[in-house]
Amino acid sequence: MPIEVSIKKGYDEISKRAAKIIADAIRNKPNLVLGLATGSTPIGCYRELVRMHKEEGLDFSRVVTFNLDEYIGLSPTHPQSYRYFMDQKLFNYVNIKRENTHVPNGLSDDFQKTCEEFEEAIKKSEGIDLQLLGIGTTGHIAFNEPGSPFDSRTRVVNVSEQTIKDNVRFFKSIDEVPRQVISMGTGTIMEAREIILLASGAGKADAVAKSVNGPVTEEVPASILQTHPNCTFIIDEAAASKLESI
Ligand code: GLP
Repeated sequence: MPIEVSIKKGYDEISKRAAKIIADAIRNKPNLVLGLATGSTPIGCYRELVRMHKEEGLDFSRVVTFNLDEYIGLSPTHPQSYRYFMDQKLFNYVNIKRENTHVPNGLSDDFQKTCEEFEEAIKKSEGIDLQLLGIGTTGHIAFNEPGSPFDSRTRVVNVSEQTIKDNVRFFKSIDEVPRQVISMGTGTIMEAREIILLASGAGKADAVAKSVNGPVTEEVPASILQTHPNCTFIIDEAAASKLESI
């Protein structure tokens, strides 16, 4: 099944489209199991979901969420932790139950167990209905970097040099960027029943083109999405600018 590509004018439009898909899915299935992503790209989508909750009564009371990843060594209250990000961008402003939100624990004393329990919790919820993704400039999804096995599960991952450089903008210095994370595996992500991937800006154009038009290879982690039965890329014109050139 080729990846469906929906090209919108700019960041606002991709954010609103993604939020509409998520909102419709929640209205159809109030106990939706929703996979969530961090990074700068989904912020507009979360803003729109908060607006829909406040103005249209979008109800998160039965929604269950699983986040893709978390930095190892950062506490849930650290401003750069992904738990903190989710609280600030979405969870604190909608009526989701805290116990229904799952972000891997970056301060665990037994990471093996934390990863297994995370996978177990997804299974117990009967799998992820709709997974939101971003994409790294390396073509990574979550923190599954080039070379990650397509059948990988939730585990501890070393962050690539390129991704450390990409993410330094969120930290005071490069030394503060954590080198390790817990990340949902590519195999875990591929089990979601529906996937939407957001990309904005020319910096993502290469990764998007390789993922959509290039060969399916572990060197471009997002290329595996070509084999998913229900995956849509919602991207702006800048991120789509290299699509034909591959
Ligand atoms: C991080 C996250 C990814 C995200 C990527 C892109 O590395 N682990 O899930 O897709 O960054 O981030 P941004 O949206 O800020 O470009």
